[in-house]
Amino acid sequence: MFTLTNDANLPKHELYKQLNQQLSALLQDERDLICNAAQFSAFIMQALPDLNWAGFYFARGEELVLGPYVGKVACTRIPFTRGVCGAAARTLTTQRVDDVHAVPDHIACDAASNAELVIPVIVEGQLKAVFDIDSPKVNRFDSTDQAGIEQLVRTFADACEWQWSI
Ligand code: SME
Repeated sequence: MFTLTNDANLPKHELYKQLNQQLSALLQDERDLICNAAQFSAFIMQALPDLNWAGFYFARGEELVLGPYVGKVACTRIPFTRGVCGAAARTLTTQRVDDVHAVPDHIACDAASNAELVIPVIVEGQLKAVFDIDSPKVNRFDSTDQAGIEQLVRTFADACEWQWSI
């Protein structure tokens, strides 16, 4: 059984360092992309407070297609031209949104979502997916969360075999 040991008294960047070590250990014996994407989504939901959705959209042509996630039922396809996820795919940069209601282009999947962080997953220079997390808390993600979660996404990406992927 996997037991997450995160110490809430640690400074946030230390907490992310610890989480990164635990993630490496969790994924070390498995290279399957779908398996690791499912585990990674659950790990994030278990490790971080105040989240209501965490998961992947895989890049297929000019569209994102829903992959493994934890949370409420979500929209299945998002063109690169739309939403916060589309912006991450189009610009290849992390999108950190303090309040999604201030973003006219935002695609609402769960009415409880207020803040959002979308990180592009780039492997050997190619966009493979975006990792999206939503929070009911406005301003949930600061720059330390962004850097910490970007590192976790890199650890996930390095643990996977992408050769056969979409
Ligand atoms: N809010 C996202 C859509 C995906 S869901 O949040 C799971 C967006 O605007 O792209």
